[in-house]
Amino acid sequence: MNHIVFDEEKKHLKLLDQRYLPLKEEWFVCARLDDVIYALREMVVRGAPAIGVTAAFGCYLLAQEVSDKAQWMSGIEAGLKKLSSARPTAVNLAWAVEWMRKKWEDQNVSSAQELAKLWLDEAQKLLLKDIEINKKMGQFGAELLEDGDVVMTHCNAGSLATGGYGTALGVIRAAIEAGKKIEVIANETRPFLQGARLTAYELKQDGIPVKVACDNAAALLMRKGLVHRVIVGADRIARNGDVANKIGTYGVALLARAHNIPFYVAAPMSTIDPDTPTGEDIPIEERPAGEVTHINGQPVVPPGVEVFNYAFDITPAGLISAIITEEGIFRSPYCFKK
Ligand code: MRU
Repeated sequence: MNHIVFDEEKKHLKLLDQRYLPLKEEWFVCARLDDVIYALREMVVRGAPAIGVTAAFGCYLLAQEVSDKAQWMSGIEAGLKKLSSARPTAVNLAWAVEWMRKKWEDQNVSSAQELAKLWLDEAQKLLLKDIEINKKMGQFGAELLEDGDVVMTHCNAGSLATGGYGTALGVIRAAIEAGKKIEVIANETRPFLQGARLTAYELKQDGIPVKVACDNAAALLMRKGLVHRVIVGADRIARNGDVANKIGTYGVALLARAHNIPFYVAAPMSTIDPDTPTGEDIPIEERPAGEVTHINGQPVVPPGVEVFNYAFDITPAGLISAIITEEGIFRSPYCFKK
């Protein structure tokens, strides 16, 4: 599924707008850096690796934009800073911006036009590389799944959250490609409903059996023996193996431990942040209250009542059976070095 598409002719970035799936397949066009920043903040595109890839194309649009300015270098610096802070938790955003900055430093670039050319090439490579990484991760992770497994996942860590193929869903796809029969339980994932809307959408498209469960059904489903493994993605993995992922993941991990069910995290090495010592040091994004107080524009909470809208939580390393990456499978005790 190509949901991040660069239009060579128009020099635009096109994003399949995830706010409207599965009801409408609408494309959001990014012609300028500010469009990319808007798309990231409003979750037109979301999911840590997809955020990183999109940001890389954002760097290209930025270089295009400043190309007629005398002070183009300071324009680039200001733009990169703005881009890096579009969303705080997924480290892939800052990682991708730093990657692009390094490519700039490594080359003898004398104009913004030249930089734009270099960055477009890099962004396209990052997109393809991300798919390749996910396939490798899938190969490693598939070994952990058994024929007949029912796998619970939380949020969307699939094609739509990456350049393609997915991290957690990539592992499931690889296990199925290896001939195993796998079924998926997608937790709905309030309030943005990434599980119900996006995971179910892409698995259905691929013909992979999926059932959506309300977030609060996880304990019962595990108790009934209907869940054999849990696999989720990650937005940031601290040096000690603590994992930031979509709000609700921590609860699912605790339940998995209570029911003796393996709990796996699948993420690329770029999601591991050795500069962040523990989960306590990971910034947790708080999103607008309206995402909780309203559904499809209709209020579901009495006016004036305050809500919590933390977008992520931290799963302590001790609850994680293994972390699956493109470089192999890591197990506790985790200690990720630079
Ligand atoms: O707020 P989102 O939808 O960007 O959160 C996404 C997640 O929490 C995913 O599980 C994570 O980014 C991994 S995606 C491969």
